[in-house]
Amino acid sequence: MDLKDHIRGIPDFPKPGILFYDVSPLLAHGPAWKTAIDRLADAVRPHRPDVLVGIESRGFLVAAPLALALGIGFVMVRKRGKLPGDTVAHSYDLEYGTDTIEVQSDAVKPGQRVVVLDDLLATGGTMAAAVTLLRRIGADVRAAAFLVELTFLNGRDKLDVPSLSLMAYD
Ligand code: PRP
Ligand code: MG
Repeated sequence: MDLKDHIRGIPDFPKPGILFYDVSPLLAHGPAWKTAIDRLADAVRPHRPDVLVGIESRGFLVAAPLALALGIGFVMVRKRGKLPGDTVAHSYDLEYGTDTIEVQSDAVKPGQRVVVLDDLLATGGTMAAAVTLLRRIGADVRAAAFLVELTFLNGRDKLDVPSLSLMAYD
């Protein structure tokens, strides 16, 4: 099955000149979505994660079913101000301004092996920030995994962990 048949390119979103790769049709198609999760499970399993991490919000869509498929737990990295209790935050630069992500301080035990999931790798800024944040609470980050990678943006160059994706666009 070619999963790209279920990815839709939408021109000029969110800004003129940007082609937005929309994963909604993949999520909406039961057999294709199951195939995507099965393939990710096969790609992620060799990294032997103790726990998966998903990055709010579209990363949750990928990490939660994948954690179930692998029979392991799932941890949320969220945007600022959403998580209760003790949290650790990390700010990172965007094209204009900065963004902040957070994780609960006890979400991962020191030394636990984690794989971090997101729907899409573009510039890599989001995933690089999540890796930094998770290391701060003691995680052993083994890999980053995505449904879609925009190779022309060279996001994987920002990552110092193995990066895997099911579909690439250049
Ligand atoms: C999108 C996408 C990735 C990130 C990729 O998230 O889901 O998380 O951007 O971009 P980068 O590699 O250049 O950092 P977005 O911030 O749009 O929010 P959402 O997941 O809540 O829709
Ligand atoms: Mg996102």
